[in-house]
Amino acid sequence: MRYREIAVDEDITLFEGHEPGRALTFNTYWVADPQGAVLIHTGSRAAWPALASALGSRLESLRYVVVPHFEADECGAIGLVVDGRPVTVLAGPIAARQLTGFGLLEQVRTVRDGEWLSLGHHRLEFIGAPSEVHLGMGLIAYDHASRILFSSDFLGQMGLWAEEGEVSAGMEEMREHTMPCPDPFRGLAARLLSLDIQVVAPGHGSILRGRIRDQIRRYFGLTPRFD
Ligand SMILES: [Fe+2]
Ligand SMILES: [Fe+2]
Repeated sequence: MRYREIAVDEDITLFEGHEPGRALTFNTYWVADPQGAVLIHTGSRAAWPALASALGSRLESLRYVVVPHFEADECGAIGLVVDGRPVTVLAGPIAARQLTGFGLLEQVRTVRDGEWLSLGHHRLEFIGAPSEVHLGMGLIAYDHASRILFSSDFLGQMGLWAEEGEVSAGMEEMREHTMPCPDPFRGLAARLLSLDIQVVAPGHGSILRGRIRDQIRRYFGLTPRFD
């Protein structure tokens, strides 16, 4: 895996992972905060050496890891990430149960819909989200300070090095892959539409900065098509 570093905000950084020959990027987010940094998605275990090298000395300030659901790109490297570091892993009930079964007994904290992580500046609200992997109890996170939604596999796009403004086809493809039937996601869609989201930071593909409510409506099937 090769990573490139992209500034999302003044203290939020996207590490975009690219595997040669694969038309899908793997995004990890670094949220720097005076009270300790947050890593969102660890990437796979195989990718960790490259990601750790890209993160560099920042890792000394790591205090929290957010695992939106139990899948290799979201938490495959978790054992290597927590090893020897004073880190708390925040995961929904199903992912937390799996992680404790993999031996992370003390580091994992179960987080439920509506709970918050309030740091010195950033304030992440966790939002319960059906997951395409386990069809229940996934989590995504909205930072009220930066108004960024860390949407995990929602609102992401298939495609290679997707750039802003070229997301529609890739998003349609991702939606078909992860959410064949939108009905269980209506509540999540309504919740997201109630938030003042300025930026969507997905687990795959490009950062979304404009027409967020339109993108949410289309993605969740509230309007029929992407344009
Ligand atoms: Fe996933
Ligand atoms: Fe993912």
